[in-house]
Amino acid sequence: MEIIILDTEEELARLAADAIVRRVQRSPDLVLGLATGSTPLPLYRDLAQRHAAGVNFSSVRGFALDEYVGLPPEHTQSYAHYIAENVTGPLGLRPELVHLPDGNADDLEEAARRYEHAIRASGGVDVQILGIGANGHIGFNEPGSSLLSRTRIKTLTSKTRHDNARFFTSLDDVPSHCLTQGLGTILDARTAFLFAFGGHKAEAVARAVEGPVSASCPASVLQLHQHAVFFVDRAAAAQLRRSDYYQETWAAKPAWQLL
Ligand code: GLP
Repeated sequence: MEIIILDTEEELARLAADAIVRRVQRSPDLVLGLATGSTPLPLYRDLAQRHAAGVNFSSVRGFALDEYVGLPPEHTQSYAHYIAENVTGPLGLRPELVHLPDGNADDLEEAARRYEHAIRASGGVDVQILGIGANGHIGFNEPGSSLLSRTRIKTLTSKTRHDNARFFTSLDDVPSHCLTQGLGTILDARTAFLFAFGGHKAEAVARAVEGPVSASCPASVLQLHQHAVFFVDRAAAAQLRRSDYYQETWAAKPAWQLL
């Protein structure tokens, strides 16, 4: 794991965007794993600026992490809507190359299997972008999720429904179920970039990075990943016991060793 602690979201987003653009220039049909939520927005804005400046993302393929069950794609809080508004349009991706789990399928288990198949058929995710829930969830893999889980239906915790209620008219409008890539699916990505900003994420970050690998903190499964990078601001890093070491490592990183 590599832990990068910097002052601002924008600096962290720039580093990640540099790494993604470098990969796209090498492999124009790169496969990005797309997270939703407020945390990845600085990264998407940075990538959108690069697109406006001439970087071509039109062959890049995308797979969203998750989707609510029962929200029509045109609902403003569906992740289909989020991805269209914040990623596909601004980065100039081709909509037919951007996929989400079908939370409106009659047969949700079959939709989950189809999604896993589509990811595998693409050759697998190259860079998985992740946020982290205050309870340590990634995607919608709530605490207790199997560390080797695949895409499936999950029940949201009331904490997550409360956290996300700010985007809906009322708590009752927040769906209770979702389809989410599993922790095993996420582990298959070649590189994982997790972002966390703000003091309300500090405990989850510390448990993910320095706690035991445990289904009680789903993000801790990234300790088993071959190339996971955490991009955290100082507030989100506040509970890390080894933050001095992470910062020394970053300061001493050889120039040839890219993210
Ligand atoms: C949401 C998403 C996650 C996201 C997390 C944190 O419920 N399913 O993918 O990482 O919660 O959201 P935010 O970045 O808005 O804090």
